[in-house]
Amino acid sequence: MNTRKLQETAHALVDAGKGILAIDESFPTIAKRFASIGLESSEQHRRDYRELLVRAPGVERYVSGMIFFDETLRQKSAAGRLFPELLRERGILPGIKVDLGARPLAGHPHETVTEGLDGLRERLREYRELGACFAKWRAVIRIQAEQGLPSAACLEANAQALARYAALCQEAGLVPIVEPEVLMDGAHDLAGCYQVTVRTLRAVFEALAVQQVFLEGVLLKSSMVLDGADLQQRAGVPQRAGVREVAEQTLRCLRESVPEAVPGVVFLSGGQSARLATEHLNAMSLCTAEQRLPWTLSFSYGRALQEPCLRTWGGDAARREAAQQALLHRARCNSLACLGRYSPELEEAA
Ligand code: 13P
Repeated sequence: MNTRKLQETAHALVDAGKGILAIDESFPTIAKRFASIGLESSEQHRRDYRELLVRAPGVERYVSGMIFFDETLRQKSAAGRLFPELLRERGILPGIKVDLGARPLAGHPHETVTEGLDGLRERLREYRELGACFAKWRAVIRIQAEQGLPSAACLEANAQALARYAALCQEAGLVPIVEPEVLMDGAHDLAGCYQVTVRTLRAVFEALAVQQVFLEGVLLKSSMVLDGADLQQRAGVPQRAGVREVAEQTLRCLRESVPEAVPGVVFLSGGQSARLATEHLNAMSLCTAEQRLPWTLSFSYGRALQEPCLRTWGGDAARREAAQQALLHRARCNSLACLGRYSPELEEAA
């Protein structure tokens, strides 16, 4: 294992003021996103949209890496260039989603385990040859306190899979992004989310230790500690707890469960609005200045970076540049948020 190279890549992904753009939606997920703008999910539409994102001028100032879906890693731009090549020439690292999705966990209704370990060693070798230098695997944890969810079985099965995936990635020379997402769905409050997130992260890092994963060559992709979406709806506000409280509880949770050796924690947006995801990250960066944390904090957003861009584009080639500007604006806001320098006035100015 080339530990130095893994460390370099992990650090490059969380370079100051830079984060990751997740554009790794699977076929069903991208179909859902396109349906929201009335567009069919054909190969050409997926290519056009992802080319728009990949070629957004200046995006490399804010984005260190992009996560692709298998199709995109192999796809060519309209001018016949491979997507990973287009990223590389602008200094952006190509990454790849390697899990095959969450499937029902036998004996545990309402819970899932993420699959994709069979044949993973061979797939990783191929991805490496196609230019990927990091990978992502997402586990899904659902909170339903009245039914005792998440179960110990669900946490254990997902942590095991994440650890085996991470070890295989490092063997192949790819930095594993380890993503246990605690879903926002449900009526739990902030304290409930806090407890489950701590349990989840502890299970994950225990499993990583058992599999002897090199922590300095890993990034954690975490959800934030938030109120459940149903609770938010009932309260009639997008987030019942204030921005500062979310930031403090998320950091407290990470301090309790993430080893110091991990170079960076990148957040997923998980259904938060684009602005709120930025505000939360900014508030955490401000706390970091007060508390000195061992890891760099950054973003690895999908929806919170793409939504305004996708809406602006709407499948219309004439709105391509406006859509790219919308992406750049969100990328810049989140880059500033990594440094604690975001302010809502930037939204009005844009
Ligand atoms: P969201 O930011 O839209 O949650 O997506 C991030 C991601 O990569 C989920 O796996």
